[in-house]
Amino acid sequence: MEQITLTGIKPTGQPHIGNYLGMIKPALELAKDYQALYFIADYHALTTVKNKKQLKELTYQVTATWLALGLNPDEVIFYRQSDIPEVFELSWVLSCFTAKGLLNRAHAYKAIVDDNVAAGREEDKNINIGLFTYPVLMAADILLFGTHVVPVGLDQQQHLEITRDVALTFNGNYGNVLTIPEAVIRKEVMTIPGIDGRKMSKSYNNIIPIFAPPNQVLKPVKRILTDSKRPEDPKDPEECHIFSIYRHFADADAVAAKRELYIEGGLAYGAMKQELFELLEATFADKRDRYNALMDNTDELDKILEKGAEKARAIAAPIMAKVRKVVGVSA
Ligand code: TRP
Repeated sequence: MEQITLTGIKPTGQPHIGNYLGMIKPALELAKDYQALYFIADYHALTTVKNKKQLKELTYQVTATWLALGLNPDEVIFYRQSDIPEVFELSWVLSCFTAKGLLNRAHAYKAIVDDNVAAGREEDKNINIGLFTYPVLMAADILLFGTHVVPVGLDQQQHLEITRDVALTFNGNYGNVLTIPEAVIRKEVMTIPGIDGRKMSKSYNNIIPIFAPPNQVLKPVKRILTDSKRPEDPKDPEECHIFSIYRHFADADAVAAKRELYIEGGLAYGAMKQELFELLEATFADKRDRYNALMDNTDELDKILEKGAEKARAIAAPIMAKVRKVVGVSA
């Protein structure tokens, strides 16, 4: 049987080219070799997004983003976490096999506790239990489908370790029931700089958006930080943030030619920025149209996600039934 790869996508605002290169593109590649299950982690988002309209809107945006960028819902099982009630059933069962200390040490939770302590506040101030048990829900997302491989960013590595730990504890008690998943950590994402040279991230305000109107793509491209070398000066392409982005989109010959031009001298940063912009337009213009069309037809998005949920539940149901049976609750 085909191996299963699964990942959860937290709905966060405007997608940028760092998301595309770091997560979306590799995930779509991986889907060629595995049965892929990709889902919108809307219940995870609820730990922080408490506005109904915003949560709905973010969910549609991320759904339209993945579809516009090439996810084929006939091949990838693409669904919304909140359409799978079995996730919660399993989440409870797993919570009974999760050492509380493991969650106390989870980075996301611990970071807020540390902030509270540093500010002289009560240590659990403003922390809801959903934030605390976030890793258990994530373990349920993964283990419910017999997942083999989970592609995630470095920030999720610890969550994967918790998932494995919980699954091993469960299996230690009941035998080999749950598949132990492997994390595939994407390091690539670290090397895609934002316009200021730090990792591209919404929180650094240094992104180049994918689906914004052209002038709003051009603006950040023009602001990419460079040194003050003149066009005729020889330059090191590896030091240039424009080049670091360009090389992910241009074909190999064009990249080689540019590399030479940098080294020999004769390249103006302004012209290079213009070229990068045009390349981004050529890459994303038709995808932007598709994105906008999908956002104008959210009924269609709902339909696609519901169909995905049906397929996902067909995989989940027998695994959940087995869990119920081995633990000794109503089967
Ligand atoms: N926690 C992940 C993130 O913030 C999203 C996520 C939820 C996830 N459930 C998952 C990722 C299961 C992989 C597998 O990015």
